[in-house]
Amino acid sequence: MSVKTVLRLGDPKLRQTAQSVTAFDTPELHALITDMLDTMAHYHGAGLAAPQIGISLRVVIFAVDGNPRYPQAGQVPQTVLINPVITPIGETLASDWEGCLSVPGMRGVVSRHTDIHYAGFDQYGQRIERTAEQFHARVVQHECDHLDGLLYTDKLADPRQFGFEQELSMHGMLDHRTAD
Ligand code: NI
Repeated sequence: MSVKTVLRLGDPKLRQTAQSVTAFDTPELHALITDMLDTMAHYHGAGLAAPQIGISLRVVIFAVDGNPRYPQAGQVPQTVLINPVITPIGETLASDWEGCLSVPGMRGVVSRHTDIHYAGFDQYGQRIERTAEQFHARVVQHECDHLDGLLYTDKLADPRQFGFEQELSMHGMLDHRTAD
């Protein structure tokens, strides 16, 4: 168990396309997930993707339960999602503020599908299939983008709606969040 360094925007490892996991329920995979859970908890992340700790595999984790960084967010069950596939349901998009542990201290508005279906596997190779909406759907889309080398800063709805969380909050900008 250990808290890993989270790579920050500018590190080329965040821009790689991650490889699919081919072996489940292995000591290496369990160790990776333990490290990811420890790291996410330490930094109060809503989610984390393996490339953020320098491991180029298609593994994401997410959980929201009274997260101090997202005080108005609903509950998202702690999930380990491997080799994920996301399918949008309908065409409704919503814009809301996002943050990322790889872009510390900043927030930006990103447009995402409000309703998705996602599928993949847990660390034991058990199939996961779910539908998700609103914040849950947003977190899954954000984390899975990391597996394709994308960060939310690539998808800003408007570059002017991007800045330091402290300043945005001080000036009332973050009060306009709608997706919670
Ligand atoms: Ni992120």
